[in-house]
Amino acid sequence: MSPTLSPLDRAKFAAARRAAALVEDGMKLGLGTGSTAAWLVRCLGERVRQEGLRLRGVPTSARTAELARREGIPLASLEEVRWLDLTIDGADEVDGSLNLIKGGGGALLQEKIVATASDRMVVIADAAKRVVALGAFPLPVEVIPFGWPATRALIEEVLVGMDVLGRTTSLRMNGDMPFVTDEGHHIIDCHLNRIGNPRQLSLVLNQIPGVVENGLFLDICDMLVIGHGDGRVEVQEAGGELRDDGRIAFDETDNIFTDVAE
Ligand code: A5P
Repeated sequence: MSPTLSPLDRAKFAAARRAAALVEDGMKLGLGTGSTAAWLVRCLGERVRQEGLRLRGVPTSARTAELARREGIPLASLEEVRWLDLTIDGADEVDGSLNLIKGGGGALLQEKIVATASDRMVVIADAAKRVVALGAFPLPVEVIPFGWPATRALIEEVLVGMDVLGRTTSLRMNGDMPFVTDEGHHIIDCHLNRIGNPRQLSLVLNQIPGVVENGLFLDICDMLVIGHGDGRVEVQEAGGELRDDGRIAFDETDNIFTDVAE
């Protein structure tokens, strides 16, 4: 393996490699976004090249689509395939019930649509993503640009009545300009520290005109795969406990490590 690959990247790779083994020939597959999902795409590209694995990938962002094309993974749109066998994606936080915060990479809307249009969603992550309660990671809320300051004010207003430990918000920026999602929206990050009732918060946020979707993924994830820097893997099914699931061997000469773009 490249000496420059950090323990964190090794952990992400281990989770991705294990999840890539869940993909079966002929599957229609949702491809997540982010640095962990990028490892998955590379692992799948390797399976396509080496085993002739046939699959149709539905990417959740333009950057995942670009990487998948480079890896030789045949792509389709969700409009074409309509329903997916499996989606594999990363997460910013995951709690013991497999509820998630997503959207740190700004792709939460397509990620949520794709994950909920799948028979099964598997989340891949390093161990630091696992938390007792959601909320230390700022909750992304995707909003329409039209009138966004009013939408932000309404978000702050509803947060007053919510079971959270912080109530500040910030408009996500890209340099000097507001960040723009693949769907042409902005993101308001909510700094909540701890979310006592994610279900209530999600429902209330999505009632605000101007809010398109929020980054709480509740009852969507079916399985969690946690990777560690030493190659160990842990797995948790929805309703179950986290259990050891062996170890991924690193092959230092593997081509998959030679072109790490993210
Ligand atoms: C993208 O919008 C996010 O939901 C990502 O899945 C999440 O931010 C995890 O990204 P990393 O794998 O890079 O931590």
